[in-house]
Amino acid sequence: MFGRERIEYKTPEQVLLMRRAGLVVAEALAAVRERAVAGVTTAQLDVVAAEVIGDRHATASFLGYEGYPATLCVSVNDEVVHGIPGPRVLEPGDVVSVDCGAIVEGWHGDSAITIVLDGAEPEDVALAETTERAMWAGIAALAGAERLGAVGEAVEDVVDAAEAAGLNGGQRYGLVEEYVGHGIGTAMHQPPDVPNFRTRDRGPRVRAGLCVAVEPMVVRGQRFTQVLDDDWTVVTGDGSRAPHWEHTVAVLEDGIWVLTAPDGGAERLAALGVTVAPLA
Ligand code: MF3
Ligand code: CO
Repeated sequence: MFGRERIEYKTPEQVLLMRRAGLVVAEALAAVRERAVAGVTTAQLDVVAAEVIGDRHATASFLGYEGYPATLCVSVNDEVVHGIPGPRVLEPGDVVSVDCGAIVEGWHGDSAITIVLDGAEPEDVALAETTERAMWAGIAALAGAERLGAVGEAVEDVVDAAEAAGLNGGQRYGLVEEYVGHGIGTAMHQPPDVPNFRTRDRGPRVRAGLCVAVEPMVVRGQRFTQVLDDDWTVVTGDGSRAPHWEHTVAVLEDGIWVLTAPDGGAERLAALGVTVAPLA
């Protein structure tokens, strides 16, 4: 479930380099968020991110990865992840997930946000908020966890509670299992896998130097997905909408730091009772 390959534990100095990559990603996503309105194409958003990454003398990590043709993944509505930017024009009420990765001096950062455009159904707004809250709960769980499986447990607890509170109109949510979070460092995808759901396997120990991407995907319908003929775009099998949120997180000697958040996650984590550790 988690894989048993060797984990690359980072030194505090390496974590600082990863933070530089993480902050470039954060800046690119903030710029994309400002530009994401009805009438804009997903290709235009890609240009915005590419410009920020270029200005900072960083490298886009997705471009050319296994032949991937763009800087961003932009996944709209029933697209879960890996949507390729192109001529698609955003419409009012669209649920737009934007995933971005950058490299600085060989170190990677990876993060995704979901933007819900004006005019969306309240259940879609709630869906995106539930997914974001699930991500933060998964990140917060890393702070005190003995084992990495705590992340998926915390994610699933948030989704269960949101369902119970009626946020999906009395229906169950689906929690995607085919795509998981991952270790990250000198490559975008490293061991260990980070399932965004409860697993029997408790996973590897959480210890200083572990850097992972936590990235839940929640759907209003069934959790099953399909890959389109372009061999990239992942869509829900039943056409229901699927937000995606992701942050790159470092486990340090005295706690955690969210490398793709400008404040290290301080504000969101404080609300969950977690104080972020000072960086080196
Ligand atoms: N950010 C995605 C992830 O978290 C990876 C994008 S796939 C790519 O796994 F091919 F576009 F790079
Ligand atoms: Co990722």
